[in-house]
Amino acid sequence: MQIRTHIGVSLDGFVAGSDGRPAVLSMRDFIPGQSHGHPEFIAGCDAVVMGRHTFEPALGAPEWPWRGLQVFLLSTRPVPADAPTGVTSAPTASGLLALMRARGSDGDVHLVGGPQTIEAFREIGALERLEVILLPLLLGAGLPLTRRGSELVRLGLDSHRQFPDGSVELAYSLNS
Ligand SMILES: NC(=O)c1ccc[n+]([C@@H]2O[C@H](COP(=O)([O-])OP(=O)(O)OC[C@H]3O[C@@H](n4cnc5c(N)ncnc54)[C@H](OP(=O)(O)O)[C@@H]3O)[C@@H](O)[C@H]2O)c1
Repeated sequence: MQIRTHIGVSLDGFVAGSDGRPAVLSMRDFIPGQSHGHPEFIAGCDAVVMGRHTFEPALGAPEWPWRGLQVFLLSTRPVPADAPTGVTSAPTASGLLALMRARGSDGDVHLVGGPQTIEAFREIGALERLEVILLPLLLGAGLPLTRRGSELVRLGLDSHRQFPDGSVELAYSLNS
């Protein structure tokens, strides 16, 4: 099992704009679940993990984005009452990691985000793959991929590929 991000980041380092909307939604031709190699990426995963700020907006979406995938939620609060059944929650990244490992599958886990949750898994050494879609956008402001003042991390580039819209997927290892 590997924990892997696959997150759109603007060229100036933001995963979301000042309004909190994911940066990737500013791409004109973006199709959720289709663009930027998502089908190949998610084919290797059977679970997703995310923080509450990423989870809650999905509750109001017209379609549940993680159908067929086991959902793990990092939150110090109970799972919202209107969430689909089967969501597993824990108040710490290490607690959630133990539940993922005990789920009876060795499939990879898509770490959807956001940055706080990416950091929480990185801090405990559980993030093996940082895969980003570098988007040809300059947002100027917004939510950065890493918090200000976070420590230096060296990454190893495993692969890269380009998409027709000018985005580039970069797959890095953290624990190489
Ligand atoms: N570009 C993309 O594709 C993409 C993908 C995902 C998210 N995003 C964007 O990212 C933003 C949300 O990211 P975010 O970093 O603010 O929030 P987040 O990681 O989604 O959620 C933060 C919440 O998760 C819980 N949490 C996080 N770290 C924790 C820890 N170490 N221990 C316990 N609980 C922890 C806390 O919930 P409790 O307060 O309940 O304890 C915290 O308030 C949104 O704007 C979203 O649009 C973009």
